[in-house]
Amino acid sequence: MSKLHQISSYIEYWLNAVDQHSLHAPFVYELYTKVVKNSEDATTYRHIEALREKFVHSSKNIQLEDFGAGSAVTKNNIRQISNIATYGVTQPRYAQLIHRISCFLEVKHAVELGTALGINTLYMASKRDAQVHTFEGSSQLCGIAREVFAGEGMTNIHLIEGNIDDTLPEFIMRSPAIDLAFIDANHRFIPTINYFELLIKKAHKASCFIFDDIHWSKEMEKAWKHIIQHYSVTLSLDLYQLGLVFFNPELRKQHYVLQF
Ligand SMILES: C[S@@+](CC[C@H](N)C(=O)[O-])C[C@H]1O[C@@H](n2cnc3c(N)ncnc32)[C@H](O)[C@@H]1O
Repeated sequence: MSKLHQISSYIEYWLNAVDQHSLHAPFVYELYTKVVKNSEDATTYRHIEALREKFVHSSKNIQLEDFGAGSAVTKNNIRQISNIATYGVTQPRYAQLIHRISCFLEVKHAVELGTALGINTLYMASKRDAQVHTFEGSSQLCGIAREVFAGEGMTNIHLIEGNIDDTLPEFIMRSPAIDLAFIDANHRFIPTINYFELLIKKAHKASCFIFDDIHWSKEMEKAWKHIIQHYSVTLSLDLYQLGLVFFNPELRKQHYVLQF
């Protein structure tokens, strides 16, 4: 990760980002005004945020397997839970946006690559008629996330433990169509592209894939550019932290950088 890269990519985003006044395509306008900019009352998510707070104040450490990029803060394999909860988990406004997208698109089957403590998974699964398959390689994080899901009484979360490089291809062979995917695991070029190529096998014209940290590094920038140029992607939205792609062939290929 290069701080210089992040600063320059943020300046570029800030100079290019537009709001609803520049949106003419009806689907994009509706998505932006009703979902992206229209945040709900955050009290809906109070119980999830209380859990995040608990982890932020935890004094426990865990041992993590090294699956590649993803830690902007520490490079050794012992991590404090508080450090993961503070730096390694999707922040509330983005997790809440993912939940709103799930509701707007009437998602029934969702995938999350990278569970960590399960905070964002809870957001995705709070649309209770959606089945959420979440993938995590760290056995200790899986243990924590399982306790979280059981404690919250979640029956619509399916945690798949193991290296995503192995578990995702197996899952894709037997999975139903994927309405929503949140890709937030190994933030490197090749794994990101491999996961994208696997997931699109189960995409349909109303699917949405959301990539985290699209400007985090030059590798992720390259992966994002590759993805938005892919022939199957007809609409891409850059919210800086998150990149959203859609596959509806009835949409003219478009790319927007949007204020969020
Ligand atoms: C950024 S965290 C996920 C955060 C979570 N989505 C959230 O917002 O609450 C990324 C996670 O992906 C896991 N991970 C990275 N590469 C992986 C791989 N190849 N297989 C399995 N898990 C992996 C890491 O162990 C880490 O817990």
